[in-house]
Amino acid sequence: MSSTETVLKAKEAMEKSLREQADLVHFEPRAYGDWRDEFHENGCVLIKNVISPKKAKYYCEKQIQWLKSFDLGFDEQDPSTWNADHLPVSFKGGMYSLYSAPHEKVAWEARMEPTVIDIFEKLWETKELITSFDALNVMPPRKDLNWTPWPHCDQNQARKGMQAVQGLLNFAPSGPKDGGLMLMKGSAKLFNEFFSVPREPYAHEDAPPPEMKYQDLFLFSEEDVKWFEERGCELIKVNMEPGDFVLWDSRTMHYAKFPEGDNFRHVQYVCMTPRRFATEEALELKKECFESWVGTTHWPHCNIRPTKETPMRNGQVCPKHRTEPNEKPEITDRLLQLAGVKPYN
Ligand SMILES: [Fe+2]
Repeated sequence: MSSTETVLKAKEAMEKSLREQADLVHFEPRAYGDWRDEFHENGCVLIKNVISPKKAKYYCEKQIQWLKSFDLGFDEQDPSTWNADHLPVSFKGGMYSLYSAPHEKVAWEARMEPTVIDIFEKLWETKELITSFDALNVMPPRKDLNWTPWPHCDQNQARKGMQAVQGLLNFAPSGPKDGGLMLMKGSAKLFNEFFSVPREPYAHEDAPPPEMKYQDLFLFSEEDVKWFEERGCELIKVNMEPGDFVLWDSRTMHYAKFPEGDNFRHVQYVCMTPRRFATEEALELKKECFESWVGTTHWPHCNIRPTKETPMRNGQVCPKHRTEPNEKPEITDRLLQLAGVKPYN
């Protein structure tokens, strides 16, 4: 057996045992007097003004620079370049998990905003956190996309309770017509009830191939969406201003809305969980991802797949394929702790 196979076997065994565990954390019902009350009630919350509009603008500019660094002729002022020919290869037109994008300096700077870390510290009630290496997201209002909603949740039905919480730091205006996050408010609480009977995931066109083993993804059908609505859940588009942050329990049904307005979408996905949730094997895999500038899923502490996928363009590896960031982050002890590479003392 090759070392990669051994690692994958160990990973599978570890994931299986983890999924069979009880809740990783338990929150006694109580009043916090801040955004956590709404979060625990609805499974999601919008937190305003987490960074300043000026800082948000900085991130927008950095993301545009990153798109231009591929030299594919993209021009943010010229709509005729807002298409696949002039942009790096992404998922759903704007999510960049390849090209080492999750490790770009701009992505790490956003993750490491003190006010962003503070949200997760408050939520999990620990300072010993690790972060996911989530996709960088920048998206012009493209006209060349074949888009269908893909309502899903990012937690395996076998996992108990709240085990991951996803976040999104928003940099540009996102109104009702703009692309952005759709959330089924209240659906996290119904997760156990929904999955109390056998459920087959919807065979959506964007579903990953079975060999990819996305263990923490469930795609919902239209009937499933109705199931949640009939039980009082509400599908909402999260309208945001630059600097806002949205947080949602990974059991919450969600997807991204097709952009119909004129605004670019500029966001950074950020997820953090307590380091104590991770096994030593998971931390090893995470270190491997970090050292080879590879991204992860939304899950910081498990479900880590050190895949070496390459961006494909017209059936060939994209000639702009990169294996390291265009602009590397400054490697500090704090960054290494959040990456899971350096332990907390
Ligand atoms: Fe998701």
